[in-house]
Amino acid sequence: MRDEFIWVEKYRPKTIDDCILPESTKKTFREFLTKGEIPNLLLAGPPGIGKTTVAKALCAELGVDCYVINGSDEGRFLDTVRNQAKNFASTVSLMDADRKHKVIIIDEADNTTHDVQLLLRANIESFYKNCRFIFTCNFKNRIIEPLHSRCAVIEFSVKGKDKSAIAAQFFKRLVSILELEGIEADKKVLAELINKHFPDWRRVLNECQRHSVGGKIDSSILASFLRLIFMILSKILKRRNFQKSESGVSIILTMILLYFFVVFTTLYLTLLRVLVLQQQY
Ligand SMILES: Nc1ncnc2c1ncn2[C@@H]1O[C@H](COP(=O)(O)OP(=O)(O)OP(=O)(O)O)[C@@H](O)[C@H]1O
Ligand SMILES: [Mg+2]
Repeated sequence: MRDEFIWVEKYRPKTIDDCILPESTKKTFREFLTKGEIPNLLLAGPPGIGKTTVAKALCAELGVDCYVINGSDEGRFLDTVRNQAKNFASTVSLMDADRKHKVIIIDEADNTTHDVQLLLRANIESFYKNCRFIFTCNFKNRIIEPLHSRCAVIEFSVKGKDKSAIAAQFFKRLVSILELEGIEADKKVLAELINKHFPDWRRVLNECQRHSVGGKIDSSILASFLRLIFMILSKILKRRNFQKSESGVSIILTMILLYFFVVFTTLYLTLLRVLVLQQQY
């Protein structure tokens, strides 16, 4: 699939200013850009919030070469890091004499093993003259302490007071993306979608793209399963011989039970997710 076809890639912000982030986080990145260099960074936070986007945007705006390695590509991980760092050390930039360093982005670093992280720790300092590392991760407690202490750790979670401002900014962005794509959208549905998946912007964009095949986004995108149950229920209720039909009653009871089952399971899973996230961050 071409990158321009997938909205999350097509609309990946290219600059820090375009990224939707709390002002304090943005300020930190702007300061790096003003200085023209970055320290080793550990970007931590939930999925789809913009960590990889920020890592790439920083490199692009600093005009530095960067190399992205995914933490899940176990295979020859350390060899790749070593070779790339050596490569960076031996290549002299012809474009900009003041260029200070190059960057290795280790994406999803929480998927690397403990051993790999120990070896990285040993190497980071020897590479420091030539290249910097940006680690991204969802769970920073899966990154060993010595790596934390060698990096500036930046949290991507959105705290209470920033939430509505950030949601409003993404809403605006989503509306303009849908306009560009020529998709008609019910704004109330977009707002609900943002609330439902906040702050996973990847998920919001993917859901919108998936449901926009017919050229518009309406309420069918939300809770389609529950809507289906309600539709069946209302059809049964409308049947004229309903009162005489015992099977009708049992179908309704089953539907109601099913409905409560779905609601409680959803609540339980949400609660579980909140508890897990609270433990992680
Ligand atoms: N802060 C943001 N501002 C604007 N768009 C965003 C932002 N965060 C994510 N997106 C959109 O979501 C896509 C995925 O973001 P990204 O890959 O940066 O997420 P991530 O935080 O690295 O997630 P993961 O932890 O799963 O790797 C981006 O390409 C972009 O389209
Ligand atoms: Mg990422």
